[in-house]
Amino acid sequence: MTEFDPKRPSTTEVGAPRESDAHSLSVGHNGPLMLHDVALVQKLARFDRERVPERSPHAKGSGAFGELEITEDVSKYTKAKLFQQGTKTPMLARFSTVAGELGSPDTWRDVRGFSLKFYTQDGNFDIVGNNTPIFFVRDPMKFADFIHSQKRTPDSGLRSANMQWDFWTLSPESAHQVSYLMGDRGLPKTWRHMNGYSSHTYMWVNEDGERFWVKYHFITEQGMDYLTNEEADQLAGTDGDYHRRDLFNSIKKGDYPSWSVEVQVMPYDEAKDYRFNPFDLTKIWSKKDYPRFKIGRFTLNQNPVNHFSQIEQAAFSPSNTVPGTGVSPDKMLLGRVFSYPDAQRNRIGTNYNQLPVNAPIVPMNSYDKEGQMEYHHSGDAPVYAPNSYGRSYQDEQGPVDNGWESDGELVRAAYTLHPEDDDFGQAHTLVRDVYDEGARERLIATVSGMMADVEEPVLSRVFQYWKNIDQEVGDRIQKAAMEGRGDDVPGA
Ligand code: HEM
Repeated sequence: MTEFDPKRPSTTEVGAPRESDAHSLSVGHNGPLMLHDVALVQKLARFDRERVPERSPHAKGSGAFGELEITEDVSKYTKAKLFQQGTKTPMLARFSTVAGELGSPDTWRDVRGFSLKFYTQDGNFDIVGNNTPIFFVRDPMKFADFIHSQKRTPDSGLRSANMQWDFWTLSPESAHQVSYLMGDRGLPKTWRHMNGYSSHTYMWVNEDGERFWVKYHFITEQGMDYLTNEEADQLAGTDGDYHRRDLFNSIKKGDYPSWSVEVQVMPYDEAKDYRFNPFDLTKIWSKKDYPRFKIGRFTLNQNPVNHFSQIEQAAFSPSNTVPGTGVSPDKMLLGRVFSYPDAQRNRIGTNYNQLPVNAPIVPMNSYDKEGQMEYHHSGDAPVYAPNSYGRSYQDEQGPVDNGWESDGELVRAAYTLHPEDDDFGQAHTLVRDVYDEGARERLIATVSGMMADVEEPVLSRVFQYWKNIDQEVGDRIQKAAMEGRGDDVPGA
C-alpha cells in the first residue's frame, strides 16, 4: 500500500528519505554530476516519461463526478439495475472537442464529446456520445479518414478547410451532421449549456426477454446556449481552457450542473419497416414517431482531485454494457466496440481497467491476467476455465438475450434503404424547419467564411452540397463566399 503523506519530508519513489530537491550531487561545486545520484536520475527519468499518448480524437477535455437518479418506472423496457426507479448510481462525465490536440482551445468550432461512465451494481456501463444526435459517416471503415481530414495536413501540419470540405463533400452522408456543426451547436457557450446524445441506437431487454431499441438524450437543465464566432475566436486567444475552467469553477462554488435523462424507445419489430433505417447513425428518429420521455436526471457535483489520474486516464467505451442493455446492428457502434478498449490498452496500458477511475465498484472475476502493471490478481485461484477447483465460470449457450437475427452473404455494401432514406432530407429539415432565419444567417456566415482558401473542385462541390441540402441556403452561401473571396458569382 503506497500512501501519500504531504507532511513527510520528501522521499524517493520507494520511500527512502531524499537528500535534496534542489541540488544534484556533483564533484565539487562546479560539477561534473554523478550517475549514482539516484534522486536526480529518478527525477529526470520520470519526467521523461510523464506524458502518455493523448486520445487520438477527443484529446482535449475535462470532466467531473456525479450521480444518476432514475425517477420513472421503465422496468417494462429494461431490467438493467441502474435504470430501475429510485436507483442512484455514481458516475463520471467527460466533455471534449474532437479534432483538437491536448492543448487546443476549447472554443474552436467542433462537435463536443459527451462521455458518461456509470459505476453500477452489475459492472460499468458507459455511453460515449456527442452533443449532436447523429454523426458524419455511417461505416466504421471511413472513421479514420474522417478524423485525418479534420486534423492536420501532412506537409504544413496546419488545419485545412480545403481538406475538411473535400472529405465532407465526397461523403454526402455527412450533410446532416455538418448542418449541426456549422450551426449554433458547433460553439456551445459552456459544456453545462449543451445537450448530450447516445447518437447510436442501443438495445434494452426486460425481465421477460422482450427487446427494444433505445436512443438516449441528455437534456441540459441549464438551457442551451451558444457563443458567436467572434466570442469564440476571442476566447480561443485569451482563455484556451474556457470550458474546462467554467465546469471546474461552477462545481467548486456549488453550482452543480444537471441534465434530464430522456429516451426514445422503439419496439424491436418496428425497426424493420421504419421509414428511416433506425441504425443509420446519420439519421434521427422523428419525435412524432417515437416521443422522447424522461426517465431521470444526473448531476455533476464533484471535481476531480487529480486531473491526470481521474480524467486523462479515464477510459470510456461503448463496449461497457450491463445486463438489460446491449448494442445494435449500427455498423459504427460495432466498430467502436472494438476500437476503444484497443486504443486504451495502448494509450494507458494493458491493465487500464484496474485504475481506480476505471475499476468497477463490484468485485470482478476475470480470467484475463498479467500484462504490464497488473495490480489486482486472482491469487492462487485456478487461472483457466473450466476447472475442478471451485473458481466459477460461465457457460451460456444458444441465442443471447440482447442479440438480433441476421442472415445473408458476406458483402461490402451500404445499408439497405428504408422508404425515406437519403443523405439530404433530414439535413434540409434541420436547416429549413428547425433553424430560424437568424440561425440560418449565422450558418451561412460560418460556412462562407471558411471558403477563403478552399480550392476547386472542392469549392464548387461545397456550393452544390449546400444546394442539395437547401437550394436557397446554398445560393446564399455561394454568393457570400464568392464576395468574401473577391471572385465573381457565376450567373450573377
Ligand atoms: C467507428 C467509429 C469510431 C471510432 C473507431 C472511434 C474511435 C475513438 C477512439 C480510438 C477514441 C479514443 C479513446 C481513448 O483513447 O480513450 C475515441 C474517443 C471518443 N469518441 Fe470515438 N470513435 C468513433 C465514433 C464515435 C462516435 C460516433 C461518437 C459519438 C457518438 C464518438 C465519441 C467519442 C468520444 C466522446 C470520445 C472521447 C471519450 C472520452 O471522453 O474519453 N466516437 N473515439
